Amino acid sequence: MKIGIDKMAFASTDQYIELTELAEKRGVDPNKYTIGIGQDRQAVVPPTQDIVTLGAQAAQKLLTPENVRGLSTIIVATESGIDNSKASAIYVKHLLGLDDYVRTIELKEACYSGTAAIQFARGLVALNPQESVLVIAADIARYGLNTSGEVTQGAGAVAMLISANPHVLAIEATSVSYSRDVMDFWRPLYATEALVDGKYSTNVYIDFFKNTLTRYQQRTGRQLADFAGIVFHLPFTKMGKKALEAVLQDRTDDVANRLREQLTASQVYCRQVGNLYTGSLYLGLMSLLQNGQIKPGDRLGLFSYGSGAEGEFYSGIVQSDFAKNLSDVDHDLAERHQVSVPEYERLFNSQLGMQAADIQFDTQADNAPFVLAGQKNHQRIYQRR
Ligand code: CAA
Repeated sequence: MKIGIDKMAFASTDQYIELTELAEKRGVDPNKYTIGIGQDRQAVVPPTQDIVTLGAQAAQKLLTPENVRGLSTIIVATESGIDNSKASAIYVKHLLGLDDYVRTIELKEACYSGTAAIQFARGLVALNPQESVLVIAADIARYGLNTSGEVTQGAGAVAMLISANPHVLAIEATSVSYSRDVMDFWRPLYATEALVDGKYSTNVYIDFFKNTLTRYQQRTGRQLADFAGIVFHLPFTKMGKKALEAVLQDRTDDVANRLREQLTASQVYCRQVGNLYTGSLYLGLMSLLQNGQIKPGDRLGLFSYGSGAEGEFYSGIVQSDFAKNLSDVDHDLAERHQVSVPEYERLFNSQLGMQAADIQFDTQADNAPFVLAGQKNHQRIYQRR
């Protein structure tokens, strides 16, 4: 039985900054950001948006009266949880008006947990093939103003329906997971911004990619030539290039050049939005499917990485109706508007964060279908428009 991704949808905020403008304000050569890091724009998050509102917005785009009937479970995978106890999936389910007879849970392991959610969902569907699982990978990547990680921030959610007989990607049986206790990126309970050893994290990422790919190749006997493309977790687009070149080295044959071309196609949306943490690999998959030379029957490799650290390499076969089962990311990105760097800084400092006080946000300027209206008696107040 084929099990995998049946539908995919993306949501982010409706505003962004140009990274050339950020570079100018930070006194950095813009080429460092656009070429050295490989990012052009970055999503800006108003205080009225968080992982619940972004996740609900993405999920709403793929749910239909037919497919909600088979839904058994909602898994929200996130690094940016909004409560130390209660699962954000419960808020998402409520905002979407879904049946109460649905399991709701949250998963965490930095940028990796979206992949864990998909693998767990595969198991659930294998046990009950008539049921489906909604996986939402949603995050707000925050490093802080004027930090070296600032240029690698971003925000958004990718929602995926995992089912039998999927329309986008049938996941293959072999996957290789690899984990080690590593302090490359973490966020203590009292912190709203990540702590990171940036250079070290890029080295660990490459190390984990090589380890999982090698073991995958040993187990399956497959070579790089067997992949139409490899999709990477993209904290910034240059990271995918670093990892791919670490295995291609100085190869210039057709296979190597094809993988390089498809990598470029997978980076298109990340360049415009930034790091989605758990969702980045899957926005990369949407980007490759919408911008690359991919056809039904192609095998894609997927490399997932979450600091701390956990990596996984797995593969899937592209299905015939894939193009009709992806939300229109180009349209959403074209609808966004630019804000200035001072406005981004003001919004960055206006987040609810760790505040305990009652607060009411002005939601007038936010046109999203779901908003965070504030906090009262330590409870977040969400609104559906
Ligand atoms: N023109 C062109 N390129 C330039 C340039 C210029 N004027 N100036 C610098 N560059 C290049 C540098 O040569 C460098 O390229 P290489 O990496 O290919 O050598 C690149 O721009 C970046 O320059 P620096 O290394 O000097 O940049 P930095 O010290 O400011 O830090 C960073 C970069 C480490 C990525 C930092 O942004 C960071 O810490 N980001 C967050 C951590 C992160 O994303 N890690 C990724 C792996 S961990 C992960 O994947 C999980 C996750 O999502 C967090």
